[in-house]
Amino acid sequence: MITCCIFDLDGVLVDTARFHYRAWADMAHDLGFEFTPEQGEATKGVSRMASLDIVLCVGGMENRFSPEEKERLAAEKNARYLNYVSTMTPDDVLPGVRAFLADLKRNGVKIALGSASKNAGTILDRCALRDVFDAIVDGTLVSRAKPDPVVFSKGAELLGIAPERCVVFEDAAAGIEAATRAGMRSVGVGGDKLLARATMAIMTFENFTYDALCKTID
Ligand code: BG6
Ligand code: MG
Repeated sequence: MITCCIFDLDGVLVDTARFHYRAWADMAHDLGFEFTPEQGEATKGVSRMASLDIVLCVGGMENRFSPEEKERLAAEKNARYLNYVSTMTPDDVLPGVRAFLADLKRNGVKIALGSASKNAGTILDRCALRDVFDAIVDGTLVSRAKPDPVVFSKGAELLGIAPERCVVFEDAAAGIEAATRAGMRSVGVGGDKLLARATMAIMTFENFTYDALCKTID
C-alpha cells in the first residue's frame, strides 16, 4: 500500500525546467555556442555545477575555465534563472497538481519534496505550496545529486516510511534511476521517452487520482 508520495519540483509540480533551460541557453549564447532543448534534457535533475559541466562540454569548453570562473558562470546562470522565477505566482502550479495533492491528503498519504534545487524554498513560497509538504528535502539539505538515491531516501527516513510504500514523481531519467536505487516505485511525468524505466507514466496530473495510482501501483 502506498502511504507516501515524493515529488520532484522542477518540471513536475511547476514548469521551471524551461527556466533552467533558458538560463543555460542564454549563457551558452554569450559564450558563442548554441545549446538546444534536446541537449538541455541532460541537465534535468542534475545539480547546478554538474549541469554547467554538461553545457560547457556541448560548447567544447570543458577545460577552458578555472574553478573560480566556473563558480562565477554558475552564479550568473542562477541570477538569470531567479529573474524568471521572480515572475512566478500560485497560478504557475501545473494543471491538476493541487487537486491531486488534496486527494492524497484526504486519503492520509504523506507528501514529501525530493528536489536537487537550492532554489526550491523560494519557488514553494512564490507558488504557495510549502504548507502542503510533510517533509522537504532539497539541494540545501543534500549535496549528492540524482541519480544518487539520497534525495528520496532522506524524505522517507524523515517520515519514518519504508521505501516500498513510497512512490516518486519525476520528469527526469536521473530521477527515475534515483527512485529505483532507493527501492521505490516511480511515476514518470510528462511522457518523455527518457522516462520509459518508470513504473508507470502520466502526461499530466489532470484527472489523476490516488485511486488511479493504486490501481497500477498497489
Ligand atoms: C533540478 C533541475 O531540480 O535542480 C536541474 O532539474 C537543476 O535542472 C537542479 O540544475 C539544481 O537547481 P538549482 O536551482 O539549485 O540551480
Ligand atoms: Mg525535474
